[in-house]
Amino acid sequence: MSLDLIIGNKAAAALLSDWPAHPYTLTLPPDSPIGRVINAQTIRGFLDAGCAPSNYVNMFHRGEALHPGRFTADDRVAPGSVQLLLDQGVTIQLRELNRWHPPMSAICAGIQAQTGCAGYVTAFITPGGTQGLDYHWDQYLGIVVQLEGSKTWELWKPKIEAPYRDHATSTHLWDGDWVRQWQDSGPDMTVELTAGDVLVLPRGWVHNPHSRNAAETSVHLTFVLRERVPLWFAERLIGSAINDPRFRVVIPPSGLDSAKMPETVEAVRSLMVDYLGGLNIEEMSGVLRRAAQQETSHATL
Ligand SMILES: [Fe+2]
Repeated sequence: MSLDLIIGNKAAAALLSDWPAHPYTLTLPPDSPIGRVINAQTIRGFLDAGCAPSNYVNMFHRGEALHPGRFTADDRVAPGSVQLLLDQGVTIQLRELNRWHPPMSAICAGIQAQTGCAGYVTAFITPGGTQGLDYHWDQYLGIVVQLEGSKTWELWKPKIEAPYRDHATSTHLWDGDWVRQWQDSGPDMTVELTAGDVLVLPRGWVHNPHSRNAAETSVHLTFVLRERVPLWFAERLIGSAINDPRFRVVIPPSGLDSAKMPETVEAVRSLMVDYLGGLNIEEMSGVLRRAAQQETSHATL
């Protein structure tokens, strides 16, 4: 089971039976293939060999993103720019390694089969004494694996309840006063990760990760688990209505007229209620179980 490869059998079983609401740390199991199939050298190798696809690489400095023109040539990260930018204190993010590195693809597919949560894995390189991304929260549960060096994670309880997809992202809602409040109050938790440490970070927890106190370069992986929520089920249940011809008949422009619109909305709602009421629960359970374990399209995460 793939989750076991990152957090060990016991912690994986505990996570599955009692989904976390608070951050906690663990240690990478001694027999984990992480470190062999991927490590700081492998990650750096993608960049130095000119193999890293530029649309899967972001660079940050003190909370701001660099323009891709600073590090891109021919749809790849230009190897010559990498050391230069690291020397300037830039953090490099290699996004969704599982889409272009087969061993990571296998591990992420395994995590999804085990948990029913779709996801991906991203790598970060942060030079010692610097900070890349700063205060934000994410729309998913993250499992952070420190591969090399160290990183400090300042953590605060969620500002927003259950952020999901594009709803309530930290970018959209950002309020400059929050940073002052968080700095004044101090973190609810501070975690120092060194090589072999793992941080489980639940969805929505605010984090300010940095290597400002570190002498060495920090390299870590973040495994993302996009949790399933009732909306995900609701979309698929109603999405299956494509097979019912009643949902494919034309609603002519007259039905979209503002005077007619309430009648149209009411008619479609009634159709939905009728359709959902007649669904075969057993059949849909199989369909949704397979979708949860296997569906990877970004449009449906
Ligand atoms: Fe994050």
